[in-house]
Amino acid sequence: MQKILVSGGAGFIGSHTVLELLSAGYKVIVFDNLSNSNRESLERVQKLSGRTIEFHKIDLLDKESLGKLFRDQRFDAVIHFAGLKAVGESVEKPLLYYQNNVAGTLNLCECMIEAGLKQLVFSSSATVYGDPESSPIPEENPLKAVNPYGATKLIIENILRDLYQSDPEWKIALLRYFNPVGAHESGEIGEDPNGIPNNLMPFVTQVAVGQREKLRVFGNDYPTKDGTGVRDYIHVKDLAKGHLKALEKISGEKGLHVYNLGTGSGSSVIEVINAFEKATGLKIPYEITERRPGDAATCFADVSKAKRELGWSTEKDLYDMCRDAWNWQQKNPDGYPH
Ligand code: WQD
Repeated sequence: MQKILVSGGAGFIGSHTVLELLSAGYKVIVFDNLSNSNRESLERVQKLSGRTIEFHKIDLLDKESLGKLFRDQRFDAVIHFAGLKAVGESVEKPLLYYQNNVAGTLNLCECMIEAGLKQLVFSSSATVYGDPESSPIPEENPLKAVNPYGATKLIIENILRDLYQSDPEWKIALLRYFNPVGAHESGEIGEDPNGIPNNLMPFVTQVAVGQREKLRVFGNDYPTKDGTGVRDYIHVKDLAKGHLKALEKISGEKGLHVYNLGTGSGSSVIEVINAFEKATGLKIPYEITERRPGDAATCFADVSKAKRELGWSTEKDLYDMCRDAWNWQQKNPDGYPH
């Protein structure tokens, strides 16, 4: 049985991926500093899967503890989710993001090399495309950082590319997520942002559950179908399954591979609101406000490469995403117990 080490496995995407790994028969060890996640997510994943997860509370910057983890046991691969991910916060605290995301990843790679492990799936982001000229966006698109968070993802991609150039024994997949939303159909695990949500879907679900008065729609004067921003929302369960396909791909062959993980189609903010109201029967009050600085008008993925090379494509639509996001929020109005 393959043993996978998952960094940040207690987080939103991490916990959903851990569940898919366990269900597929992998043995899973998770480390997480719990700075933006909750141990309860893994308790619930254990219940859902009927399998146990070995957990270690470790910070990527604690290289001593990280090294001990690799000295104490052998892993077949690493899936690296751990990282800070709030764009706005990264603009206010760039050094925190460079330390945590970039220096933390250097620690992880050095520990892997000391352990003789060279198989890694990295959680990257569509944010590395900057403000794309057009969509759908293929992996060959020019890359550009437009905020410190995006810069950390781009820098890590370049570090991993250089690492592979220096030692072709490495097997690496860089997965560029578009907009992950939704939750496992049980409603037991889901997105639990700290404080006021930056992202659209958790804000909508908090309006629906009565925690927020109304949604502010950031601009309706974009050159899009209804003037509001268009994004490629992908169900977190589809995203999780993409990680297993990437793991299979790199276990079979050396190399560095880059994949967009999205649906390949774009939905506007108004379309998300309408789909949410249809899926839940609830009304989402909203007001149109100014554009949010830095937002692109349209951003959705060309997903043909992942389909061709991984045999992966999404199965869930926007209605499923809204239904499942609401099911989680309704069952957990305050998120995980703190
Ligand atoms: C989606 C759309 C907003 C909130 C961000 C990060 C990206 C990735 C995913 C980590 C946009 C509109 C939003 C609100 C709104 N994260 N919106 N009212 O900006 O596409 O991507 O999250 O990797 O790196 O940049 O996602 O959910 O913030 O916004 O109108 O209260 O919803 O303008 O059009 P985004 P988002």
